[in-house]
Amino acid sequence: MIDALPEKGVPGEQILAELRELRGGDLPTHGGRLFAYVYDPALDGLDDLARSAHAISAHVNGLDPTAFPSLLAMENALVGAAARLLGGDAETVGSVTSGGTESLILAVKAARDAHPEIARPRLVIPSTAHAAFAKAAHYLRVELDVVPIEGLTADPRAMAAAISPDTILVAASAPSYAHGVVDPIPAIAAVSAERGVRFHVDACFGGWILPYLRRLGADLPAFDLSVPGVTSISVDLHKYAYAPKGVSILLHASEELRRPQYFAYADWPGYTMINPVISSTRSGGPIAAAFATLRHIGDAGYLDLAAQTRAAVRTLADAVTATGGVRLFAPAATSVVCLASDGVDLFVLADELAARGWHTQPQMAYADLPPTIHLTVTAAVRATAASFAPDLADAVAAAQARGPIDVPPLPPLTPSAVTPELIASLAEGLGLGAGDFSRMAVVNTVLNAAPPALREALLTGFLSYLQRPPTQ
Ligand SMILES: Cc1ncc(COP(=O)(O)O)c(C=O)c1O
Repeated sequence: MIDALPEKGVPGEQILAELRELRGGDLPTHGGRLFAYVYDPALDGLDDLARSAHAISAHVNGLDPTAFPSLLAMENALVGAAARLLGGDAETVGSVTSGGTESLILAVKAARDAHPEIARPRLVIPSTAHAAFAKAAHYLRVELDVVPIEGLTADPRAMAAAISPDTILVAASAPSYAHGVVDPIPAIAAVSAERGVRFHVDACFGGWILPYLRRLGADLPAFDLSVPGVTSISVDLHKYAYAPKGVSILLHASEELRRPQYFAYADWPGYTMINPVISSTRSGGPIAAAFATLRHIGDAGYLDLAAQTRAAVRTLADAVTATGGVRLFAPAATSVVCLASDGVDLFVLADELAARGWHTQPQMAYADLPPTIHLTVTAAVRATAASFAPDLADAVAAAQARGPIDVPPLPPLTPSAVTPELIASLAEGLGLGAGDFSRMAVVNTVLNAAPPALREALLTGFLSYLQRPPTQ
């Protein structure tokens, strides 16, 4: 048991050794074998630089840029770089946020608060849009209009049909997280502009690599602020800009569009609080680390990293195409490889890949879409990609030998019947109580069979089960 508040303080060296031991139980953040959660450019010295930059500004508070102009200067520089990369012009403004979810919540808030006369504001998204839009809608009490897709991309005609007088924002992805495909941004921008509605492009995931892929000749549609009708765009620096976690950028096409994003409050005895983003006190650490990362890699460096990523994507996609039992589910046109089953149980396959050191992300069936396996590919994968094909073939053979998971039909269970006691007994029964998550096929099969609301309840219960203080 680790005690965060021991009776007497513990020497620093011991604490660092404890932290290293704890980290030893994590998935590998570096080395090109983890295909979700982490973004690794495999550049020597970059981590040390970002760490040092973080340390210089860790105690600086973004709450008041007049007290800490260093942070204001770095934020403006980051916003300027993003605007340049993403088709902005002299009118473009933006904010540095803590991540993609915060950028999307703020895009929705700005759109909602621009229309105080709309009593029941609505947000139109394609069904492939990131779950963070649902979170934004939930937090901000905005109704969500989820529009079915055509193929794997948003359908501009259906999106247009979903726009009503109460629509405050239309949004689409460049690219979508699940499949890595870019929505037809120009067509959706046009219909949004025609109806006088703001249009947000969620480029949180791919916004820092798509421009470079396009420069390298990839056949990808225009998706940024240069497209008429795009009013805001978000890009996460902690994804393909390879900055440490905690930094995203939300750009607006003009200051007027950004204005309702701010929160201001002077009606109390303390300082007047003026916040562009959700947090008030904000550490300068992640911002300084992102600033150092961008300046060190530079434009030419990002182009090179995009070329390496593109080569890795091709190698992985070729491996999938050449292997029986699996197939490419979406064209591998960006930085995602998404595969579906052609006879193999994908959840068993994911376990078999993990046993061979490849950590992928299983995705559950949704509407008409089957379960898939998602691979976020970063530049570090260039070095490991060649050894994926034999391991994939081996893992498919092992999964076929094990056969599909056969779970008995779930007893009828409603979300409200999911109690802490039920979760505890399920966790023990499925062998998750001891914290070993290496064999997840049975769990994933059960979750895949559960309707979304039940899956939400089960996983919320499980997270709550995990998130308890250690017993003394
Ligand atoms: C397209 C897209 N939007 C938004 C997000 C949310 O970003 P974050 O996890 O930084 O909040 C993600 C995360 O993967 C994403 O892929």
